[in-house]
Amino acid sequence: MPDDMVDAHIHGVTNALTAGWRVLERGGTALDAVEEAVVIMEDDETFDAGRGSFLNRDGKVQLDALIMDGATLRAGGVGCVERLRNPVRAARKILSESPHVYFVAEGAERFAAEHGIALCKNEDLVIPREVERLREYQADAAQHGNDLFAPSSDDVTISHDTVGAVALDRAGNIAAATSTGGTLNKAPGRLGDSSLIGCGCYANNESAAVSTTGWGEPIMKLVLAKWTADRIQAGNLPEWSAQEAMNYLKQRLNGHGGIIVLNPEGHIGIAHNTPRMAWAYKTVKKQEAGIERNAP
Ligand code: GLY
Repeated sequence: MPDDMVDAHIHGVTNALTAGWRVLERGGTALDAVEEAVVIMEDDETFDAGRGSFLNRDGKVQLDALIMDGATLRAGGVGCVERLRNPVRAARKILSESPHVYFVAEGAERFAAEHGIALCKNEDLVIPREVERLREYQADAAQHGNDLFAPSSDDVTISHDTVGAVALDRAGNIAAATSTGGTLNKAPGRLGDSSLIGCGCYANNESAAVSTTGWGEPIMKLVLAKWTADRIQAGNLPEWSAQEAMNYLKQRLNGHGGIIVLNPEGHIGIAHNTPRMAWAYKTVKKQEAGIERNAP
């Protein structure tokens, strides 16, 4: 993220933390907490989620999201939706009210509308900053003869502002949610890691709640959220496992990204192999937010 966006990112993740914590404080579930935290970041134009997301090749916002309950392993995901301000709300409805796990595109929008979620126009999700960013990217790619449809996944100068949250509630249950507009200039219909179980998001009370950000294709190929949860189930701490996941992403596929991890004992891990990642956490004893630090 550029220097002038650092404060906005810290502010955004702190607001999300406040919303999630409010749920937990009044005895709510981890599932509700991660939903509310992610809604705040989807509504914040700073991030690549909801309104203000990166645009695809056609200049449209196309969103993916997943939410998962570590107690029951129930999950809800939406992919390639264009008319939902808060895809995580639709994902939650799928988790709570559908026997299915995924809905995509128009089918997801129809499911959301049938379950009381208002649809918006795609233009309502597009902001001038992103129109300009896409214009610049496409002009630059055309000038340099790059493949417009396959920007390099190892280019760390392209930011990935996918948002995510993990939480542990009083009942001892964990949950995770992830939401994204995907990658800049992506091909229409391209689905990223964020809404795929075990890739951009995973939660299981037997291991950990995990959310990832970064270039989706390498993360998907490594099923990285589940890979990390498996390390924790094998007895490793989230802090070590989060860092190992970033090392593995870099070493195996030259991928880049970030990860937040929480186990049912309340241990956390925060790591990234990008120059920066905004994060914030709160426990009954402590609250912290940051952008550069690699692990708490
Ligand atoms: N991690 C977001 C994406 O690649 O779609």
